[in-house]
Amino acid sequence: MPASGSAKGAAMVTAVAYRLADQTRQIAQTLAEFRLSKAQLLEVKKRMRTEIENGLGKNTHDSATVKMLPTYVRSTPDGTENGDFLALDLGGTNFRVLLVKIRSGKRRTVEMHNKIYAIPIEVMQGTGEELFDHIVHCISDFLDYMGMKSARLPLGFTFSFPCHQKSLDAGILVNWTKGFKCTDCEGEDVVELLREGIKRKEEFDLDVVAVVNDTVGTMMTCAYEEPTCEVGLIAGTGSNACYMEEMRNIETVEGNEGRMCVNMEWGAFGDNGCLDDIRTQYDRAVDENSLNEGKQRYEKMCSGMYLGEIVRNILIDLTKRGFLFRGKISETLKTRGIFETKFLSQIESDRLALLQVRAILQQLGLDSTCDDSIIVKEVCSTVSRRAAQICGAGMAGVVDKIRENRGLDHLDVTVGVDGTLYKLHPHFSRIFHQTVKELAPKCNVNFLLSEDGSGKGAALITAVGCRQRAQEAQQAAQQA
Ligand code: BGC
Repeated sequence: MPASGSAKGAAMVTAVAYRLADQTRQIAQTLAEFRLSKAQLLEVKKRMRTEIENGLGKNTHDSATVKMLPTYVRSTPDGTENGDFLALDLGGTNFRVLLVKIRSGKRRTVEMHNKIYAIPIEVMQGTGEELFDHIVHCISDFLDYMGMKSARLPLGFTFSFPCHQKSLDAGILVNWTKGFKCTDCEGEDVVELLREGIKRKEEFDLDVVAVVNDTVGTMMTCAYEEPTCEVGLIAGTGSNACYMEEMRNIETVEGNEGRMCVNMEWGAFGDNGCLDDIRTQYDRAVDENSLNEGKQRYEKMCSGMYLGEIVRNILIDLTKRGFLFRGKISETLKTRGIFETKFLSQIESDRLALLQVRAILQQLGLDSTCDDSIIVKEVCSTVSRRAAQICGAGMAGVVDKIRENRGLDHLDVTVGVDGTLYKLHPHFSRIFHQTVKELAPKCNVNFLLSEDGSGKGAALITAVGCRQRAQEAQQAAQQA
C-alpha cells in the first residue's frame, strides 16, 4: 500500500532530524579531543616541570627539548639606567627599528621613536646575507629619518628565536622558528652576522651590546615599572617564556651566586613525544605542513601562527565529511595561513551577531550558511580555549618552580606579557589566567601587559650592559 503523503513527510522529517542529530554528535566527538580535563592539564604542568629540570641539568641539557637557555641578564632594572639606545626587534609580527631615550633620576622617563618595516617572505626564507642586508638597509633608512647617521649608538638586538648565549653580546642561533628559514644562519652568531652586514654597507657604525629574546625584553620592561616582575611571557605569533632562575640550578653556567634570567624556549616542549597523547590528527597535519616538521610542537598547539591552521584543518575535515559548506572545499579553505589571529579574534568576539560572523567568512571567500557559521565559531573557540589552557598549564609549572626554589608556601609574583594572541583575542587571556590560578593555587600571579616590551626591554638591557662594561673597564684600570 503506498504511504500517505503525511506519513512520508513525517518519515522524511524524522530522517533529517536523525541525520542532523548524528552530524551534531560527530562534530561534538571531533571537538571533544580538544577539551582537556583538569587532570590532563595537571599532567601537562608536571611534564613541563620535568622538561625544565632536563634543560637546566648539566648531563641532560644537550638532549633536552626545553632548552632553558642562559641569557646573561643577571638582574632586573634598578631605575639608574640612562642614555640613548638603538633597538632592533626581529621575530614578531613586524620588524622594527627604534630609538629609545632613557632618563634616570627622580622623574624617570622613556621616550621612543620607531619605524616598522616589512620583511618580505622571500627575505624571510632567502639567504642569511639577504636578511641581514635588508635589516641594515632598514637601520640606515631609520638613521636618515632621525638624522643620526654619525652617532655611534649602543644597540640592543631583540632577536626572538632560540640562541645559545655565552655572553650578553653573542648569540648562536639554534634553529629558526615561526615563518623564518634563512640559509647559513643556524649555528652562527647573529650579532656577528649583523656586524658583518653593517660593515658591508660602509655607511654607519653601531656598537652591538646585547642580543635579547623578546620574552626577556618583556620581563625587563615590566620590571622597570613593577619590581616583582620576574617572569616574561609571549603569546603571539610564537609562544615562549623566561624567568629569573637561581644560578645554583643553572648547571650549564659557572657560579652559584644570585640569579639569571633563563629563556625557556618552551615552544619546543613536546618535541620528544611527551605531549603525543593530547595531540590530535589536526595538530599532526599542521606540523607536517610546516617549515619545521617535528619541531615546536607545543608552540604549534598554542600560538597565533598556528591556531588558524588547526582551525582550517578541522574545517577541511568537517567539510569532507559533508557537515560544512555543503561539502565543497573552496580554494580559500585550501590556502595556508588564511585564519590569522585577528580573524579568529573577530569570529570569537561575543559582540558579533552570527550574521557578522558570516560576513567575516565571506570576506575570506568562504560562502557559509547560518549553521556553518555556528559550527565555525564553535571550532575556533574550542581550539583557542585549549591553547589558553595548555599555555596556562605551562605557566603554572613555572611559577610553582619559582615558589619551590625559594622554599615558600605562598608566592606573589608578576608576569610581564606581550603578544598579539594575548592582546587581541577576546577570551585567551581570561582562560589563561583562570588556568594558572587553578593549577598553581599556592601562587598569587599578577599579569602585567607590557607596552612595547621588546624595544624598550632591549634598550634597558643594553643600558645595563653598558654599565657593566664601564665597571669592568674601571676595575681593569685600577688593577693595572
Ligand atoms: C621563538 C622564541 C620566541 C617566541 C615568541 C618562538 O618561536 O623560538 O625565541 O620568544 O617564538 O616570539
